[in-house]
Amino acid sequence: MFTERVVSGMRPTGALHLGHYHGALKNWVRLQSEHPCLFFVADWHALTTHYDSPEIIGENVWEMVIDWLAAGIDPQQSVLFIQSRVPEHAELHLLLSMMTPLGWLERVPTYKDQQEKLSSRDLSTYGFLGYPLLQAADILMYRAAWVPVGEDQVPHVEFTREIARRFNHLFGREPGFEDKAREAVRKLGSKRAKLYQQMRTRYQEQGDETALEQGRELLDQAQNLSMGDRERLFGFLEGSGRIILAEPQALLTEASRMPGTDGQKMSKSYGNAIAMREDPESVRRKIRTMPTDPARVRRTDPGEPERCPVWQLHLVYSDEATREWVQVGCRSASIGCLECKQPVIDAILAEQQAFRERAQPYLDDPSLLRNIVADGCEQARKIAQETMREVREAMGLDYD
Ligand code: TRP
Ligand code: SF4
Repeated sequence: MFTERVVSGMRPTGALHLGHYHGALKNWVRLQSEHPCLFFVADWHALTTHYDSPEIIGENVWEMVIDWLAAGIDPQQSVLFIQSRVPEHAELHLLLSMMTPLGWLERVPTYKDQQEKLSSRDLSTYGFLGYPLLQAADILMYRAAWVPVGEDQVPHVEFTREIARRFNHLFGREPGFEDKAREAVRKLGSKRAKLYQQMRTRYQEQGDETALEQGRELLDQAQNLSMGDRERLFGFLEGSGRIILAEPQALLTEASRMPGTDGQKMSKSYGNAIAMREDPESVRRKIRTMPTDPARVRRTDPGEPERCPVWQLHLVYSDEATREWVQVGCRSASIGCLECKQPVIDAILAEQQAFRERAQPYLDDPSLLRNIVADGCEQARKIAQETMREVREAMGLDYD
């Protein structure tokens, strides 16, 4: 188990589909056994684009959380919460907004892209411009090391890193920093202190990156340090001020090309999606009517899997032997398309059976779900309050 925290969020879009599962959730499930993980519903982010239809949010939130649990997110391992129930996110967003240059926000590629794409909505709002900053607050609040996201979100994580750097630069230079840092070094104990000094010198004088890594590991393992001293020592190691907000890294979800029923990327808006907990009969119908290689007009015409969207599904769901059977059978016209689709149907139905079983307790007793989320909000808030204490102090707001 690594100690580096993982944070990720999703806007509440309602019931999730197989693209969400293979593209994101499967990855979250894997991460939760390796890292402390926090996953949250970004309901405020939904309002940045859908402020005129707020009634959809509530419903979508719970449907989505049920799908997270259906996918195998384990509330014993991961903290699940709702953004708006940890109001510290709003406070951090506000405080960060004080030092965020407008140009940085205007330059985030999603800003203009989304405005053009969602041209039916008026997105010339303050809230929409601030979308990436709200996301930065979500991430920096938990001092996350890793943010599992798809490619489209990488600029937002990059932006978050810049915000952290700017914040630390502006507010990490407390008076008497050097003295306080040296005092903190002593608290490491003589053996560790000596090692720390060596690594600091090796990094700062020779640019030795491994020494920097080793120094950070040493600090990760030093347990008797206060939060303030820890931040000083991280900064002192690198030659900067206190590192109050940690720079996160995007953890790119390997682009699982989950095709929809038309071979294009699966997406609700394309109408080619299969929901995670879709009715089996509807799944059978959707796959059976899927288009195949257009060259196979008659059953006796040979086909080419590379030109067939069903083949894309075999790549997600079938083992080597089945794929071989498809390739040979399709090219020699020895199997029919319906026959070829059957293993895919079976695999999807089996996968969904597990989803349904895991979801059932929460459908039977919604209070179970409410309790998990209430508990998650409380855990998230504890961390958030700690961070906010430091942020307020750094920004001169802890006066009496
Ligand atoms: N912007 C993300 C998306 O559209 C959702 C999100 C909000 C997020 N806050 C986050 C993702 C923090 C990761 C971390 O998918
Ligand atoms: Fe597609 Fe399979 Fe039909 Fe070949 S046999 S065209 S791979 S569905």
